Amino acid sequence: MKISIIGAGNVGSTTAMRLAQEGLGEIILVDVVKGLAQGKAFDLEDARSTLKIPYNIQGSDDINSIKISDIVVITAGLPRKPGMTREDLVSKNALILKDVCENIKKLAPESIIIVVTNPLDLMTYFALTLTGFKSGKVIGMGASLDAARFANLISKELNIPFSDIETSVIGSHGQGMIPLTRFTTIKGVSLEEYSDDKKTHALVDKTIGRGAEIVSLLGSGSAYFAPSAAITALVKCIVKNEKRTIGVCTYLDGEYGINDLCIGVPCRIGREGIEKIIELELNKTELETLKKSAEAVRKSIELLPL
Ligand code: LAC
Repeated sequence: MKISIIGAGNVGSTTAMRLAQEGLGEIILVDVVKGLAQGKAFDLEDARSTLKIPYNIQGSDDINSIKISDIVVITAGLPRKPGMTREDLVSKNALILKDVCENIKKLAPESIIIVVTNPLDLMTYFALTLTGFKSGKVIGMGASLDAARFANLISKELNIPFSDIETSVIGSHGQGMIPLTRFTTIKGVSLEEYSDDKKTHALVDKTIGRGAEIVSLLGSGSAYFAPSAAITALVKCIVKNEKRTIGVCTYLDGEYGINDLCIGVPCRIGREGIEKIIELELNKTELETLKKSAEAVRKSIELLPL
């Protein structure tokens, strides 16, 4: 499999390292900044003999190197600065995405795209519109990262191992994210029963604010270790046709009563990309919260240069 990563910043290069070490395919790292992707690829290549893993990685500033990729991961774009919301990035990142998507359409028309650039729900919708790809082939990575953060925080707070925790987060990858406490279970017991309300609410709030917390601590740039781990899990699911159910940002066409926008919901992922959108049996409050999150995404679609 040929897997291209566009953007050799922290998220892109960490993803390249993880994919290479997992042996998931031939990795191409691309960045418009001259020398950056090539330098990082050489550095990653130099680690092969120490790790004793014979992966194949190349870096380039030429977008043509993504030609006939099976999977293209888009990480290119500006990250948040402290105090910024993901939405503040729309205009600049939309311009970058426009150029990137035109190239993907031309050079890798059969590929599956994983969008990572923020604001995630908007950029996923934009990539889908720009490429005209089937909706199952354009996947936004956000909800699985949010779910991983939720699991980590639950594990630390309640002192239970990850292996016993299943989290579910839906909605937009931003302030409108919805950590589903009723669908989050510890060995089959709902978090709502397992933990008291106060602790549960605190865990939900901490999960929603986790990305911003990291941005503010870093001072410049945003998270990349957990995002690259979440991207790698998605790529693995596609390459190995695992058919796992993972929260991703996808185009909804009536599912959950929502139309014509992209937002995070659980989906079955395999070799064809998104193979099925899972419709959870949400209660009235959960569904209303999801619809509210979707309406906020819909409003910001107006910001896109469509
Ligand atoms: C975050 C960025 C990747 O959640 O959106 O850290």
